[in-house]
Amino acid sequence: MTRPTPLVLALGGSTTPMSASERALRIAGDAASATGAQLEYLTGRQLMLPIYDTETADRTPGTTALIDAIRRADGLIIASPGYHGGISGMIKNALDYVEDLRRDDRPYLDGRPVGLIGVAHGWQTAVGTLHQLRQVVHSLRGWPSPLGVAINDSSGLMGTDASDSDETVVRQLQTMGEQVAEMAALLASARSPRD
Ligand SMILES: Cc1cc2nc3c(=O)[nH]c(=O)nc-3n(C[C@H](O)[C@H](O)[C@H](O)COP(=O)(O)O)c2cc1C
Repeated sequence: MTRPTPLVLALGGSTTPMSASERALRIAGDAASATGAQLEYLTGRQLMLPIYDTETADRTPGTTALIDAIRRADGLIIASPGYHGGISGMIKNALDYVEDLRRDDRPYLDGRPVGLIGVAHGWQTAVGTLHQLRQVVHSLRGWPSPLGVAINDSSGLMGTDASDSDETVVRQLQTMGEQVAEMAALLASARSPRD
């Protein structure tokens, strides 16, 4: 019996190209990919979407791509910068579009593992952002992974990639990426028709 390849969607970053939160996201995503998961990234300015509008079902191509990617994902990794004590508006708005999955067979993030990362210039906001992400994912029926990662980047813990970032932070991001990919693989197997 061949096991299906799980799809992990990595979502996050800021309007800054290759922001600290996006770099952290990519370290976790690479670790998920190393376990055999297929990775899709929607990051940075790809997430500059119109504010979620309850008054129309019309969606832009970028928004449709986001909704479709979330629908197909077996697991997600989400990274937000901490803005003024919490999740950035851009990331929260992207998560608001999960509402469009409310009538799916698998509504919202139902049953999907979700790894979470908060990056800020102080511990208070980094940890607060991680907690807020957990709260949002819980309300969307997702399963936050056991390990979440809060990063205070004021002293440059995030380098350009895993090779020049703080060793402990890299290990945490990789462990979390692996946790998401392993759970996503189990769920993808459980869902696939038996042969
Ligand atoms: C609008 C704005 C608000 C911010 N608010 C906070 C904050 O309240 N606390 C904090 O520690 N860092 C704050 N920061 C700093 C970011 O969290 C920091 O740059 C972090 O590295 C993530 O940004 P990046 O992913 O865009 O690189 C803020 C940055 C911006 C642009």
